[in-house]
Amino acid sequence: MDLFEKLDKLRQEGLKDINQATDQKNLDKIRVELVGKKGQLTEILHSMKDIAPSERPKVGQEVNQIRDLFQKQIDEAKNKFVQALIEKKLAEEKIDVTLPGRKGHLGSQHPINIILDDLESYFIAMGYSVVQGPEIETDHYCFEMMNLPKDHPARDMQATFYIDEENLLRTQTSGDQARVLEKHDFSKGPLKMVGPGKVYRRDDDDATHSHQFQQMEGLVVDKNVTMSDLKGTLEMIAKHMFGQDRKTRLRPSYFPFTEPSVEMDVSCFNCDGKGCAICKYTGWIEVLGAGMVHPNVLENAGVDSSVYGGFAFGLGLDRFAILKYGISDIRDFYTNDVRFLKQFRKEEN
Ligand code: DAH
Repeated sequence: MDLFEKLDKLRQEGLKDINQATDQKNLDKIRVELVGKKGQLTEILHSMKDIAPSERPKVGQEVNQIRDLFQKQIDEAKNKFVQALIEKKLAEEKIDVTLPGRKGHLGSQHPINIILDDLESYFIAMGYSVVQGPEIETDHYCFEMMNLPKDHPARDMQATFYIDEENLLRTQTSGDQARVLEKHDFSKGPLKMVGPGKVYRRDDDDATHSHQFQQMEGLVVDKNVTMSDLKGTLEMIAKHMFGQDRKTRLRPSYFPFTEPSVEMDVSCFNCDGKGCAICKYTGWIEVLGAGMVHPNVLENAGVDSSVYGGFAFGLGLDRFAILKYGISDIRDFYTNDVRFLKQFRKEEN
């Protein structure tokens, strides 16, 4: 077989090999065999010394043509493989935009915060301001200013966490009354405030007791504030919280910072007063404590009790939430079990 026949055979077989390449790696191997430094074409070039010099340019030309042809075919085949690879990747990584998305979970407001926010807006709408006293309170504001001197027996009503002689975890939000009374400028108008916040008592935790709970203090002081103002206000609060059909009643009570003092009951919203387990078969449920501000509280804060008077009330936010949502264990408020909390979730959309 002469050199030209050899070249022709190489061209045909080479093209066939390129066409049959199975993948890029295989194609690369074929390329090295055909046009690489130690490939078949190079080998033929090396054998040029064995042929007549007059033939050499022709052979060289032919070899170059075949190399160009191979290279062109190899490039085309390579492109095909690259393209196929891209298409495969695209197909595999295809995103179905019509699939339904994953729903994010909405958090829920804590039941006590629902009550708190609701009451705050309610009082703000009636012209009250909202104040926030410190949870680490002084004996001075928590007790002494509130007409509870050191040896007062009523101090036993609230078991206190003392930090030292003077500082304590407040047992009640009532100290806020003294703080605002001291600062209020009555020449600018009456004082109307609510003071929500956490309070602490040295109680053993069980279904109905907690060492920490939340109150909202209320105070209105002006000239000519009467007990009927208190009664009207409490009635509105009770109806706002527990329904417009509720009946209310006041019972005499005792608090050191009010005189007279009262407790308010609402007719049972479960049995409408007929008697059931919730109202302990009395038809009534105790909801808050209140009274006319004791003159000593006003005087302690430098307010002239012969000119000014007012009323105060204390709301138990945990108690309101318990009654409103039918919660049987106060500990549920503070253990943060999501199964409990998510019951108060607003509609998911
Ligand atoms: N501080 C009282 C308590 O913790 C609640 C209270 C009762 C507050 C009567 C008041 C009030 O302002 O007038 O038991």
